[in-house]
Amino acid sequence: MPSTPIAYHTYQSLAEAYSQIAPDKEYNAYYDRPAMLSLLDKDLAGQHILDAGCGPGIYSEILLKKGADVTGVDISENMIQHAQTRNGDQGRFIVGNMEQPLSMFQDQQFDGVLSALAISYIKDISTLFGEFQRILKPGAWFCFSTEHPFFSYGYFKLENYFETQAVSCQWKGFTNEPITMHSYYHSLSCITDALLDNAFVIERILEAKPVIEFEQKHPRAYAERLKFPSFIHFRARKA
Ligand SMILES: C[S@@+](CC[C@H](N)C(=O)[O-])C[C@H]1O[C@@H](n2cnc3c(N)ncnc32)[C@H](O)[C@@H]1O
Repeated sequence: MPSTPIAYHTYQSLAEAYSQIAPDKEYNAYYDRPAMLSLLDKDLAGQHILDAGCGPGIYSEILLKKGADVTGVDISENMIQHAQTRNGDQGRFIVGNMEQPLSMFQDQQFDGVLSALAISYIKDISTLFGEFQRILKPGAWFCFSTEHPFFSYGYFKLENYFETQAVSCQWKGFTNEPITMHSYYHSLSCITDALLDNAFVIERILEAKPVIEFEQKHPRAYAERLKFPSFIHFRARKA
């Protein structure tokens, strides 16, 4: 019996708040998304893109507006409901666990996979990247963002940089009361090995800085993020 994914219950209860707040939340709107969007092809029209860990479909909405054909997958039924509501009759949104084989998708089905701030909920990212490799067409792209390992190593006060391990922290930005968020920490070589072992070519590693709108929302965190990254973004290509 597969166990319940580490963040399932938290995201189920957070879905409504995340859907409302993330479109304008500093870490999402003014840090993660500008960096991620800068890595994507300029012309996405007609591309079939998987939004992997799509949450409430904020990225899917952007991709659909750029003329892409979008499929979103997420473990949280509530997130998937928000994604479909946000995007009306556009796109298709499927409940699925990225810790399991993505058997709902065919080999070489997609022109691109975008996965924003979601792989840190998956322990074995090498197996997941193998699945992305399988469902991508030859030459297709894979862009993703995650917590920067150097940031997480200090933030979680880890004893072993190299060890993939479960971590948890308090999230204060989405609810009145702090909530405990569980995730997995992966070292930089764990992430790059997961790409290279699955025959991806790394085209770009981006240690982005936030855009200026972040400062109005959270001046102190903005100043910190200009000196030390908390996210890291990758663009890879299926060889
Ligand atoms: C930080 S949110 C990011 C949502 C969206 N990508 C965005 O940037 O707006 C992380 C998402 O990963 C999803 N997730 C967590 N574990 C998952 C799993 N095992 N399989 C699929 N999705 C998962 C959560 O439900 C949540 O929607």
